[in-house]
Amino acid sequence: MDSPCQPQPLSQALPQLPGSVSEPLEPGRSRMGVESIRGDQIAWVEGHEPGCRSIGALMAHVDAVIRHCAGRLGGYIINGRTKAMVACYPGNGLGYVRHVDNPHGDGRCITCIYYLNQNWDVKVHGGLLQIFPEGRPVVANIEPLFDRLLIFWSDRRNPHEVKPAYATRYAITVWYFDAKERAAAKDKYQLALGQKGVQVPVSQPSTPT
Ligand SMILES: [Fe+2]
Repeated sequence: MDSPCQPQPLSQALPQLPGSVSEPLEPGRSRMGVESIRGDQIAWVEGHEPGCRSIGALMAHVDAVIRHCAGRLGGYIINGRTKAMVACYPGNGLGYVRHVDNPHGDGRCITCIYYLNQNWDVKVHGGLLQIFPEGRPVVANIEPLFDRLLIFWSDRRNPHEVKPAYATRYAITVWYFDAKERAAAKDKYQLALGQKGVQVPVSQPSTPT
């Protein structure tokens, strides 16, 4: 894909992004608990904030990919997604322990991760993403290379972890919702969804003018 995001502007914009950094990803979990699980700082972005238009363009690209796959997504009906979660590992050797993005049916069915790390050498910088597909004796090793888009099921089929990173490591993640599971989750998690629960529509293709 084209490269709508450049690392330098993002690294400059991140501290100014709306929404706090180091927010807990899981509802109800304390800061202390989260920091022992994940070492990144995060901000939620819609894409039209000052300095974030490239992220908006990226989201439109990813939305187009998901729309293109409609009907071939394991029976899921995609009816929206989260904002973009911009994540930065500061490079101090922190990672993110093995976890499942959506272990309890909060509505997220697809995880998309876009990496922004130019000249990344996993042997030097670490930061490898490892996926351990459920019930299979294999490991998928994904290097967080610039302009790489990774897509996987968000549920228990794909436990994954981020190995310690020793250089500043950026990624943008967005989760797509399955309509049925999301509707059920809204009843179940009514008050606890936080930022992750902010649902935005999948962007429509722009019409030629
Ligand atoms: Fe994850």
